[in-house]
Amino acid sequence: MGTPQETDLLPASLSPSARAVRSLSEMNQSSPALTPQRSRSNARAGTESAGQTSRAELTFRGNLASTRHAWLRLTPAYSVRLVSGLLTAQSALDPPFLDPFCGTGTTLLACTEHALDCDTVDINPFLIWLARSKVGSYSRAQLAEAQQGISRMRRSAQREQGRAAWAPPIHRIERWWGPATLAALSRSNACLEQLTQSCSRGAANLLRLAFCQVLIERSRAHFGHQSMSFAPGSANAGEDLAPEPPGAAADVASSLGQALERLVATASPGLPATRRRLFLADARRLDEKLPVAHYGSVITSPPYANRMSYIRELRPYMYWLRYLEDRTRAGILDWRAIGGTWGVATSNLSSWSPEPGAPLLGADIEARLAAIAERSLVLSSYVRKYFNDMSAHIGSLGRVLRPGGRALFVVGNSKFYDVVVPVEQVLARQFEAAGFSGVNVETLRKRSSKKELYEFLISARRR
Ligand SMILES: C[S@@+](CC[C@H](N)C(=O)[O-])C[C@H]1O[C@@H](n2cnc3c(N)ncnc32)[C@H](O)[C@@H]1O
Repeated sequence: MGTPQETDLLPASLSPSARAVRSLSEMNQSSPALTPQRSRSNARAGTESAGQTSRAELTFRGNLASTRHAWLRLTPAYSVRLVSGLLTAQSALDPPFLDPFCGTGTTLLACTEHALDCDTVDINPFLIWLARSKVGSYSRAQLAEAQQGISRMRRSAQREQGRAAWAPPIHRIERWWGPATLAALSRSNACLEQLTQSCSRGAANLLRLAFCQVLIERSRAHFGHQSMSFAPGSANAGEDLAPEPPGAAADVASSLGQALERLVATASPGLPATRRRLFLADARRLDEKLPVAHYGSVITSPPYANRMSYIRELRPYMYWLRYLEDRTRAGILDWRAIGGTWGVATSNLSSWSPEPGAPLLGADIEARLAAIAERSLVLSSYVRKYFNDMSAHIGSLGRVLRPGGRALFVVGNSKFYDVVVPVEQVLARQFEAAGFSGVNVETLRKRSSKKELYEFLISARRR
């Protein structure tokens, strides 16, 4: 869950896997990017020659902006280098892979680039669409169709007269876009919606992705922190909003053209043929939709217990692409996600209590929850529910992994008021309780967001 401003401060003693991850993350990021296509046998056996290693290193330290990984940003996406480092460094990882918390599809795309079969799951339909688009195949005809489509969208953005087009019911939408930018986005979106009725699915997905890139690029939002924020002066109702630069419609039009150009350049190389499936499903009940005792390895980053709301982060895309209709629906979706606290999710937490038979957390964690409850009952319930949900997830993960299968989880600890919640320790115990063996926790890095916050790699093997 790295954010760009967080610093890497690794402890002196590191396991080989953590060291490999570190060395990958330290590499020079300005190297040219290659299309990563290692053979499956090398990826599994970890037996690359020096030449191959340097190619893989170049690839993954390379300029990620020129790969499909950069198609759409999500602040809590984890590092591609970290996943690629694990795929390269861990000799005991067998396919097929599973990522039960897909997010932007980092694991799925990295596995595909390494020619490894991978399935993925998310509870958010927008993210399933995004990840599916990122690992899609795009023919020349589809790329050409998208290029024609973007020309129409650009013309629509600049067509000043005519009826006002639909804009999504985003709360205080004026904080996001000035009036001229919003009008241009609305017109190009109306054109996009028309185009997607008649064009191929591949072209439609590229056009939607271009639109998503532009709506953020032309917005007043900032993504420099752990979550999205607004430009100074636009945070509170009644404050003056930053003035809109002249030529907003032309800016939208030119951004659309540039976005599609980038997408076409990164979509054209194609990806190795692998078996890859995406499931809109609940990670607490994986065995309802996924094959039982099937997966060889899991690489994932679950939600952290940090009150980050994915729906909140993703709402501009989700509203414009009509995955969200209103705030009520946004709160309902967030409540279904592990760790969701937005809108109705917060009020639901106030009346939530664990079901009988909920997993025991132990005296130390109970004492920490009691200390948090002294300041906020809702936050204490939030953390308890997070652990309940993760316990259900880890139990169901055990059922879809085959015996001997490995699970690698990247997770951060949390802090509420002055109480540190050792999330990694609780999850490690939950793995043991679910019948995993060899459970190990390594510190990957210090997160600079708050003192005492670290990111860990939990590894465990299904008995
Ligand atoms: C930390 S993010 C994963 C980020 C991902 N590794 C990436 O690089 O983009 C956690 C993801 O878990 C998903 N999620 C939350 N609760 C879930 C559940 N019950 N079942 C499946 N997915 C869930 C969220 O929608 C979010 O996409």
